[in-house]
Amino acid sequence: MAGGDTTRLEGIQACVFDAYGTLFNVATPVEKLAADIGEKASELGVLWRRKQLEYTWLRSLMGVHADFWHVTREALDYALKALAIEEAGLADELMTLYLKLEPFPDASEALAALRKKGRRTAILSNGSPSMLDSILRHAGLERSFDMVLSVEDVGIYKPSRRVYRLAMQKLGIQDAPSICFVSANTWDAQAAAHFGFQVVRVARIPTIDDGIPGKPARVVESLMELPELI
Ligand code: 2OP
Repeated sequence: MAGGDTTRLEGIQACVFDAYGTLFNVATPVEKLAADIGEKASELGVLWRRKQLEYTWLRSLMGVHADFWHVTREALDYALKALAIEEAGLADELMTLYLKLEPFPDASEALAALRKKGRRTAILSNGSPSMLDSILRHAGLERSFDMVLSVEDVGIYKPSRRVYRLAMQKLGIQDAPSICFVSANTWDAQAAAHFGFQVVRVARIPTIDDGIPGKPARVVESLMELPELI
């Protein structure tokens, strides 16, 4: 536990996970092609992810939705251009690898432990259904969830309240605090907490909370701590 409260969360009916950055490592594509990319590889990884998220927020505010595959490619094209990386075919290769992201090492075991305890599990992600299907199959996690929910059902990205409400509707849960939402993205964790979920933030990168409303109920260092908490 990353310091702080270690007591169990009460009244949880389902455990809902963010996907990218929480269960799956978004650094995988750039890490795999780091030798081809060269010295700007880590800068590319960081800028690609930052722009990908910025574009989801901007499109949501603009009311111009495009799915996560489209947004991810636009963010990659921007990042490659901004860093003057011009390797032929690189963008296509990176996008293909985005469909085969590695799960974090704690994901599979934690999910198995939750399922063994009879917990309902779901994913609630910005990812499009086909992207989520692909990474889950690649990781062999396709049977670890009762539901895989995509923002495509509401046509707007996190942290819109419509996205968090989708989880309640699809799971048939009336009270937001009956959902334990798990995310390593600080802004997602805080927005979900502000919405009313009981949130566990995974401190994958030891970052402080963002300066926005909402506070996670618990902060853990590994998903392995989750089964004990709910
Ligand atoms: C997800 O929704 C926020 O990218 C993150 O999976």
